[in-house]
Amino acid sequence: MSKRKILVTSALPYANGPIHLGHLVEYIQTDIWVRFQKQRGHECFYVCADDTHGTPIMLRADKEGITPEQLIADVEKQHRADFAEFGVGFDQYHSTHSSENREFSALIYQRLRAGGHISQRSITQAYDPKKNMFLPDRFIKGECPKCGAADQYGDSCEACGATYSPTELKNAVSAISGERPIEKESEHYFFELGHFEQMLREWTTAGHLQPEVANKMAEWLENGLQQWDISRDAPYFGFEIPDAPGKYFYVWLDAPIGYMASFKHLCDRLGLNFDSFWQKDSDAELYHFIGKDIIYFHALFWPAMLTGADFRTPSAVFAHGFLTVNGEKMSKSRGTFIKARTYLDHLNPEYLRYYFAAKLGAGVDDIDLNFDDFCLRVNSDLVGKVVNIASRCAGFIHKRFAGLLSNTCAEPALFQQFVDANTAIAELYERREFGKAMREIMALADKANQYIDEKKPWVIAKEEGKDAELHDACSMGINLFRMLVVYLRPVIPALAANAESFLNIPPQAWPDVVEPLLGHQINAFTPLMTRVEPDKIAAIVEASKENLEKTPPVKPKSAKAEASAPAAGIEPIANPIEIDDFAKIDLRVARIVKAEAVEGAEKLLQLTVDLGNETRNIFAGIKSAYTPEQLEGKLTVVVANLQPRKMRFGTSEGMVLAAGPGGKDIFVLSPDQGAQPGMRIK
Ligand code: MSP
Ligand code: ZN
Repeated sequence: MSKRKILVTSALPYANGPIHLGHLVEYIQTDIWVRFQKQRGHECFYVCADDTHGTPIMLRADKEGITPEQLIADVEKQHRADFAEFGVGFDQYHSTHSSENREFSALIYQRLRAGGHISQRSITQAYDPKKNMFLPDRFIKGECPKCGAADQYGDSCEACGATYSPTELKNAVSAISGERPIEKESEHYFFELGHFEQMLREWTTAGHLQPEVANKMAEWLENGLQQWDISRDAPYFGFEIPDAPGKYFYVWLDAPIGYMASFKHLCDRLGLNFDSFWQKDSDAELYHFIGKDIIYFHALFWPAMLTGADFRTPSAVFAHGFLTVNGEKMSKSRGTFIKARTYLDHLNPEYLRYYFAAKLGAGVDDIDLNFDDFCLRVNSDLVGKVVNIASRCAGFIHKRFAGLLSNTCAEPALFQQFVDANTAIAELYERREFGKAMREIMALADKANQYIDEKKPWVIAKEEGKDAELHDACSMGINLFRMLVVYLRPVIPALAANAESFLNIPPQAWPDVVEPLLGHQINAFTPLMTRVEPDKIAAIVEASKENLEKTPPVKPKSAKAEASAPAAGIEPIANPIEIDDFAKIDLRVARIVKAEAVEGAEKLLQLTVDLGNETRNIFAGIKSAYTPEQLEGKLTVVVANLQPRKMRFGTSEGMVLAAGPGGKDIFVLSPDQGAQPGMRIK
């Protein structure tokens, strides 16, 4: 494998607001890809910056009574802290309001101008006579010309979806001063995008774009390319155009140039060769990760600007879809517009990294954060499957073998299978098919758990003369765990680092070839990850509800579906099963530590049960027979290996066994003599 030179960017977040979970889809996606490339040994750099220019930022600073410079400095601090805590490992985080960006913006503009790609002419626009400034469409409000809805913005109507120009709005006012806008003329500068039509036709169909994006571009190209207005009149927070006093570069002109500026800053810090990445015949790869809303800028304007200014074009632009929460657009009133900081106040950031990875593919489909699914995936995959392997084996290695792994690899073929999987997993990471990669890795985790289940260390530990067997089995388990950690490293770097220190090994490269750890000393095991607690999610939602009147919770109308009524007649006995099928059912003694009624459910009780080394949430239709007090502290029997099931009120992670005809006569309790939570019933 030869070493690649790769420069990667994520879109530059606006400096007028906090990072939220929607943004994080992109930064986490990019970061995973970059960490993967670095783990593979490539020379890969990840740069980003705050996007600091434009009217909204100027106006917000105005409103807060501070300078735009102060505002963007404060916001940059917050953005950096949020990204760092989510493990987004930029090599450089910079600002578009930087000297590098000023220089590159001027350079590119001058080259475009010299090439004859800039024109100028006078246009008429809405102007706020009180604020003495031109009004961007978003800052004009009025009645929709189509449906008459009040309070609509100058570009589109939220009520009927119509799009129009601000001059069509009825009774328009400036959203800043409330004044009636007047029309005013001024000189503007335009980028002649049309000059690059041929170049763009070729570039957009040459494999630099995802197929669905390339199709969209073909449509846009068919409709003809318009001149692009790249200047704004003072007052504006941005860079003044070199040869045009009082005129500023439109924010979207200098924003993508911010990628170059940030990288230049990195080059100066590390002594890298900037030109070798950006010159026309560069052998480096250049990738931009972006959201689907800003494709136009990255797949048309940007390659055209670069070409016109004699720089290389991107190797590829990777667009992703938008985040929805519980199937809907993020909403402040529902508490699903969640800031990165609010999430960090309550939950482990690596839960979200894993969850997004599990949902992401290479396309532009939207991705949904469903809270029940989130708990389920993290708990069952990361905690239940991956971390569990280490916790099942580490205890014996320490108690019985002084932390030293066995000298023999018990199952070389199984270990090799785990190593061989690296090719397919790498391929999926490379293609940004993270969801598929996670499924491959979890299939390996299932195999590792199966191995432990077959070896039953907790049984052989009690038998005479089985020391070597116990040692080999647990060491094998630890070795398989190590491989899973190596594959998950791009996604959950903090957990991987902790696991590496537990395993007493250096940061792991991608395992094209790797030997098992034999006769190797490991360190004490500390829990690497705990289960997601659903009440933390409720707390996040509550904390995200913004100053909007809190409406009382809606009570579900009926709760018929949740539990079936006791059968009146005798049900026919179902198809017979084999003894092997029955043996698959893992029945465990469990202690009911908490029982409570479920609001809106007539028959359900929500139980928290202790299974010896974990607690579970189970919904049981037994409210007609027991009060919560009758259950708390008592033992019962549960099916412990039932796939968790999403119900209307939450996820049930098991099933309580019951006897009796129903109604008042349901019996679920087990005698408390000689039974321990977690004991398996055979
Ligand atoms: N400042 C511009 C980008 C300039 S790049 C030269 C911008 N900023 S943004 O803050 O609005 O968005 C930053 C990135 O986050 C964009 O790629 C955008 O698509 C992405 N997302 C913002 N909200 C999002 C979701 N709800 N879901 C997924 N991605 C989202 O655009
Ligand atoms: Zn309308």
